[in-house]
Formats: sequence, C-alpha cells, structure tokens
Amino acid sequence: MEKLEQILNQGLSAFEAIDNPADLDQVKSRFIGKNGALTELLKGLGKLSAEERPAAGARINEVKDKLEQALAVRRDALREQQLQAQLAKESLDVSLPGRGTGRGGMHPVSRTLERIEALFHSIGFEIAQGPEIETDFYNFTALNIPENHPARAMHDTFYVDAQHVLRTHTSPVQVRYMEENQPPLKIIAPGRVFRVDSDATHSPMFHQVEGLWVDEEISFANLKGVVQDFLQRFFERDDLQVRFRPSFFPFTEPSAEMDMSWNGGWLEIGGCGMVHPNVLKHVNIDSEKYIGFAFGLGVERLAMLRYGVNDLRLFFENDLKFLKQFN
Ligand code: PHE
Repeated sequence: MEKLEQILNQGLSAFEAIDNPADLDQVKSRFIGKNGALTELLKGLGKLSAEERPAAGARINEVKDKLEQALAVRRDALREQQLQAQLAKESLDVSLPGRGTGRGGMHPVSRTLERIEALFHSIGFEIAQGPEIETDFYNFTALNIPENHPARAMHDTFYVDAQHVLRTHTSPVQVRYMEENQPPLKIIAPGRVFRVDSDATHSPMFHQVEGLWVDEEISFANLKGVVQDFLQRFFERDDLQVRFRPSFFPFTEPSAEMDMSWNGGWLEIGGCGMVHPNVLKHVNIDSEKYIGFAFGLGVERLAMLRYGVNDLRLFFENDLKFLKQFN
C-alpha cells in the first residue's frame, strides 16, 4: 500500500512537471503502461493472501484511475497553453493602416482623350472605332490613295505583311463607318496610329482624333465652327482663333492644315478638308446629295499644350515622377 501511494504521488508530480504534450505519453508509460510501475504491482498481487488481495486490487485500480484523470487534465491544460501561445504569436492588429495604399492616376493621354470625347459628344458626335492593324485597302485605297500613288510616301508606314499595315492615321475609320451607316453622320474616331518616326516631337505610336460630319448641307464654315468651338472649350479660352492654310490630302478636296492662335503666334494642330467625292463613292454615298468635312487632330499635341509638357517622349517613358503629377 505504501508503494502504491508513492507511485501515485510520483506520477502526479511527474505529470505536473511536463510542459510539452509530446512528453506526456512517455511519462504515462512509466506509471500505467505495460511495463509501468502499476503493472509491476499487479503482478505482485499473487503473493498476497486471498483476504488481502481484493482490497489491494481495488486500490491499484483506484490509483490507476486517478493517474489517468490527472493525465487527461494535464494534457488539456498543455494543449490550451499551446493554443494560446500560437494565437498570441499569430495575432494581427486589424486596426493598423495597410501597406501599399498608393493610388494610381489616369495617363495624361487617356485624360486628354476622355476630355476630347466628352466635348465632341456634347455637340452630338458619336464615338467610332476601328482596328489598329488595318488593311492596305482601308488605310490607303479607299481613301483615294491608289497603289503606287506618290501620296503613300507621305506616310512612313509600318507594314505587317503585303496587305496589312499599322494604321498611319485614323481616317480609315471614316470609311469603315460610312460602309455601315447612312448619312447624316457625325462621328469622332479617337485612337492610336503608327509611323516610322522617332524624336522629341515624333513618336512611332501616337494618337489622333478623326472627325467626320456628312449631311446634305455641310460647309467649310461648319468645320471651322466645330473645330474652333472645340478648341476654345478644350483650352478654356474664348478668344482662341483657328485659321486654315491650303494643303493637300488625297481624301479631301479642298484640303487645309489647321492652325490655332497660341501665345501671340500660330500652332499647327491637324489636317482637314471636305470629304473627296471618290471616298464617298467607295462607300456608295451619293456625292451629289451629300457632302461632308473631315479633320484629324493630334492628341499628344493637345495634351502637351494643355499640361505644358515640352517633350513628347515623356508620355511614353512611363516615368512615375512624370505620371504622378497628373494624379
Ligand atoms: N489623316 C490625315 C493625317 O493623318 C489628317 C486628315 C484627316 C486630313 C482628315 C484631312 C481629313 O495626316
């Protein structure tokens, strides 16, 4: 009996001393395992007299139950301890400010395009689009620039293959739109264009906005009114003037370069003219009944003037120090 009490006390304090659940099983086997101290005592029961045996057996079982209970309590306590430690280690403070909260901004060219679209839309122009890889036919032939015509040399064209080019201007959208729609037509076609050219004022990729208005009685005066009204509102300057200089484009007749007044001088901002009858013929619009004007504006040029940017290349270098100024 004394031995039994000893085992019980040793077991209880051994469990108490353990601080890692993995070690509990090892200690457990020392006391109540197959080769444990209690099993040894059970084997010794046979040496006792028949009268002593039942009380001793019952006491051994009692001690075994107590040890098992103590073991379970200790195991729960250790698991709880472990869980609390893990929770403390992995806790996060959800009230801390997040990292990477910097905000992006719209690219100045995109901003300019949106402004242009909004202004033209407000006076009844729809927005039209066409592909950037264009067929030779739409980029040239349908615009009254036949094969082998010297006017093709005006465009420093990127050829994709014998029949396809990166469009050199947005004018092919005119043709595509007129194929699908009947006059009256009033559209702008903003988008990317491409030319083999690269320096401070030329980029191999840049943006144009094409304008087209076809109806029964459209004149150069309408063209001037639309462009001047647009530029005055774009630059927020009521006194801004537009002038035309005679020029040549195969798809307009007569044709002109457009200049606007700027800082006491004149700045070229695009080309324009009355849509050539041959272009209308290509798309089966009766050129006796309908007439129209078209113009093409350079978007980067407008953006440079509006934001005071002096090098075209800044728009395409993606230098964040430059771009962040437009946030
Ligand atoms: N497509 C011409 C260019 O890119 C501009 C233009 C458009 C001229 C419409 C006249 C009419 O140079």
